[in-house]
Amino acid sequence: MIPVPIQDFLSGVIVPVNLYVKLNDNKFILVSKAGNKTNREQIKTYEDKTVEYLWVKRADYALFARNNMTIAGVIVTQNNLNVSQKSQVLGQAASTVFLELEHAGMGFETYSHSKQIVEATVALTENHRDLSDLLLGLKECSDELLRHSLAVSYVSILIAHTLGWENKQTLEKLTLGALLHDIGLKVLPPDIIAKPKGRMTYEENLQYEQHPYKGMQMLLSLGIVPDDVIAIVYEHHENAIGQGYPRKLRNIKIHPLAKVVALADEFCNLTMKNPNCPVPKSPREALLTIEHTMGQPHNKEAFRALQLVVNKEFARSA
Ligand SMILES: [Fe+2]
Ligand SMILES: [Fe+2]
Repeated sequence: MIPVPIQDFLSGVIVPVNLYVKLNDNKFILVSKAGNKTNREQIKTYEDKTVEYLWVKRADYALFARNNMTIAGVIVTQNNLNVSQKSQVLGQAASTVFLELEHAGMGFETYSHSKQIVEATVALTENHRDLSDLLLGLKECSDELLRHSLAVSYVSILIAHTLGWENKQTLEKLTLGALLHDIGLKVLPPDIIAKPKGRMTYEENLQYEQHPYKGMQMLLSLGIVPDDVIAIVYEHHENAIGQGYPRKLRNIKIHPLAKVVALADEFCNLTMKNPNCPVPKSPREALLTIEHTMGQPHNKEAFRALQLVVNKEFARSA
């Protein structure tokens, strides 16, 4: 069974899975059947009884997570909601992605820390209408892109935390850069985004590899996005051996925050389903692939930090 924080349940939406309340370690009671609408009054009754989580069967969790993203998508496109309400919805979508990663064996200890930072960053976009529209643009592009962007933010923060980075502004820039790293995909034709890279024509690939540049231009045009965030977006596909794109930068020239996001991006691409990876790898397999197949083209310190995170989780769950 998988716990979902009770405050993450929006009122009046249909939940496609059974929901349970936990009585003790072995006993759960069914409180809402699949297909029922959630009811705020009912949820409040549980909260009053200090119930912190509702529980979902492990086999149902993927369906539940996908449904949450769909709800977030419907809600953020409503014009009658203000930016603050939309941010709240994005925060909830973020929680779902983090829970999903946590249950895939990622970063339990730092979970609440990372979640707080990402949610704070989502909330930060409240003050900047343009930024919040950009973030919502990820969702318009595809559910998968928003899910991927939230996951990359989360893993970036896990790496930064393990590296001992504590400066709040640095962490906020890292989170925002990671959330927006693929924003340039928004201006590409959807059929290119949905294609595995290996099946793209030469021209399609050239177009695809422009997305860091397009993203950089979009953010520059807003005039309010910090340079460090723009560098993350522009450089997230560069790698330490100078074979990345779009500029084939060498390690020393790549922004330190971009190196962390580049690694988190690869890791998420290997561990979460996407057109290039129909069968996701476990966190440990993903590390081996990055280390051996890709020749560890990432920043070594960041890579070691990610190894530490994954091995710690593996040791904990073994
Ligand atoms: Fe990208
Ligand atoms: Fe990405």
